[in-house]
Amino acid sequence: MRFILLLFLFFLSSLAALAHGDGGHDDDDAKAADLSAVAAPDQPTYYEHVRPIIEASCIDCHSGGQIAAYAPFNDPQDVIFAAQDIKFHVVFGLMPPWMPSPETLPLKYDRSLSDVEIATIAAWVDAGAPLGDPQDYRPAASDGLDFVEIRADMTLQLEAAYVPDEDARDDYRCFAYPLNITEPQFITGYDFIPDVGEMAHHNIVYLFDETANRAIESRNYADGRPGWPCYGSPGFTTEGIRIGGWTPGASPFAFPQGTGVLIKPGHHLVVQMHYNLWTTRQPDRSRVVLQLEAAESELAEFHIISLAAPVEIPCPSGTEGPQCEREAAIERVGDLYGEIARYAPGYLLRECGQTLADYAANSGENASGACDYPVPGPLTLYGVSGHMHELGRSFRMELNPESEAPLLLLDIPRWDFHWQDRYYFVEPVQVAHGDILRMSCVWDNSLSDEPRYVVWGAGTADEMCFGSVMALKQ
Ligand code: HEC
Repeated sequence: MRFILLLFLFFLSSLAALAHGDGGHDDDDAKAADLSAVAAPDQPTYYEHVRPIIEASCIDCHSGGQIAAYAPFNDPQDVIFAAQDIKFHVVFGLMPPWMPSPETLPLKYDRSLSDVEIATIAAWVDAGAPLGDPQDYRPAASDGLDFVEIRADMTLQLEAAYVPDEDARDDYRCFAYPLNITEPQFITGYDFIPDVGEMAHHNIVYLFDETANRAIESRNYADGRPGWPCYGSPGFTTEGIRIGGWTPGASPFAFPQGTGVLIKPGHHLVVQMHYNLWTTRQPDRSRVVLQLEAAESELAEFHIISLAAPVEIPCPSGTEGPQCEREAAIERVGDLYGEIARYAPGYLLRECGQTLADYAANSGENASGACDYPVPGPLTLYGVSGHMHELGRSFRMELNPESEAPLLLLDIPRWDFHWQDRYYFVEPVQVAHGDILRMSCVWDNSLSDEPRYVVWGAGTADEMCFGSVMALKQ
C-alpha cells in the first residue's frame, strides 16, 4: 500500500505551479535564548573571543562568493558595524540557520552555536563591540562540522547553463543528471559544487529509476531551458527517493563505512535547486560529484522510507467564503493537478487510520496533521528529514511516542521552508518490528497571502507533511 501511496503523492507533487514564494522569515515566534546562567568572558574582545566564532560558524556563508556575500564578516569593521544585528540573530536562534531544537537526538553537522558562544557574542556587543588586540586571536580548534573527503569517481554537470527566472526573487528548479553507467554501482559519497555561490541557497538530491525517464524527458527543456520548475518536489508519478542535499558550507558527504545507495544503468539523479536571487543572477552549471563502489563490493544498501500525513487546514478566523470549504479545496487541486489529486485527502486519512473527525479541532491558526507508521522489520536509522511548505510552523518525527522511552528523532519548533535540510544522527538508532514512527506537522494559515482551506498539493499555496527516513535493514 505504501508504495501506491508514494506513486500517488509524487504525482501530486508534480505539475507544481511556478512557485516564487516571498521567502520571508517569520521571526515573530522566535524566542530569545535564556543566557542568565551562562558564563561569558568578562571583557570580551573581537580578536580574542568573537572572531573565532565568526570564522567557525558564519564565514562559510558570510563572505565573498557565498550565499550571504551581501553581509560579509571577513573584515573586523564589517562585524562591528553589524554587531547589533548579529546579536539579535544569534540570541533569537535565527543564525546560523539550524532548525532542529536541542531536544532532538544529537545530530551530525550541527551548525548551532552553544549557549556560551551566544552569551559571548551578546556580552561583546553589550560592551560596545571592542576590537581588542590582534595578538590575542587564536583560530577555533575545529568548526565541529566533521569535514570528510571523497573521491571524485564521476562528475555530473549540465550540458548547458541555466539562467534563473527573470522576475523571481527565489527560483526553484529541478535538473536531471543521467547516470551514464553500464553496471550497477553504489554511491558511497557525494558533493555539490555550486557554480555561483551567491545564488546557490540549498538543494535536495533525489534518485529516480528508469520509470521516471519519460516524465523527465517531457519536462526537461519544456520551456527551452535546462530543467523544469519544481517547488515541492520533482513531482513524477513514479517513486523517487531523497538521497541527500546540500546547504552552503556543507562538507562533502560520505555514507557510513560499508554502506551505499545502489544505482543502476538508466537511473537519474534529480537535483532540486533553490536559487536565492537577491544579489545576483548568473548562468549556472553547478556540478555533482559522486564517489562510487562496484556493486560486487556487497555494501549494505540504504533504504529510504517516505512518510506522509494528512493536510487539513481550515481558513484562518475572520476569513469566510466558498474558498473556506474543504470541497472547494479538493476541487481546486483537482483542477490544478489532475483528477488524481482529488483523492489525496481521503487517501491520506485512510492510510493513517483516521477520519476527518480526528481533525475537528484544527483551526486556521493552529492546524496539525500526524500519522503513525508501524516499522515493518528491524532497522538501523541513520538520518531523517521533513518537508512542509511556507505555512509550516513546526515538524516532529518521534519513535514510540506513547512508550516509556520515546525518542525525539527530529524536532523543528520553528519551521523555515528556506532552511530545510537532511539530518544524520551521531549514533544510529535501532528500531524493532512494530515500533512506531510518528510524524507530525503544524501549520498556521494566517501566514497565507490568499487564505483558503488547504489540502495536500504541490504549489506554494498548498501544503505537505512529508518525511523520509534513511535506514539499513538489520
Ligand atoms: C548556511 C549559511 C549561513 C551561515 C552558516 C550563517 N548565515 Fe547569516 N545569513 C545567511 C543568509 C542566506 C542570510 C540572508 C537571510 C536569510 O536567507 O535568512 C543571512 C543573514 C544574516 C544576518 C542579517 C543580515 C542583514 O542585515 O540582512 C545576520 C546578522 C547574520 N546572518 C548573522 C550570522 C551570524 C552571526 C552567523 C554565524 C554565527 C551566520 N549568520 C551564519 C546565511 C548564513
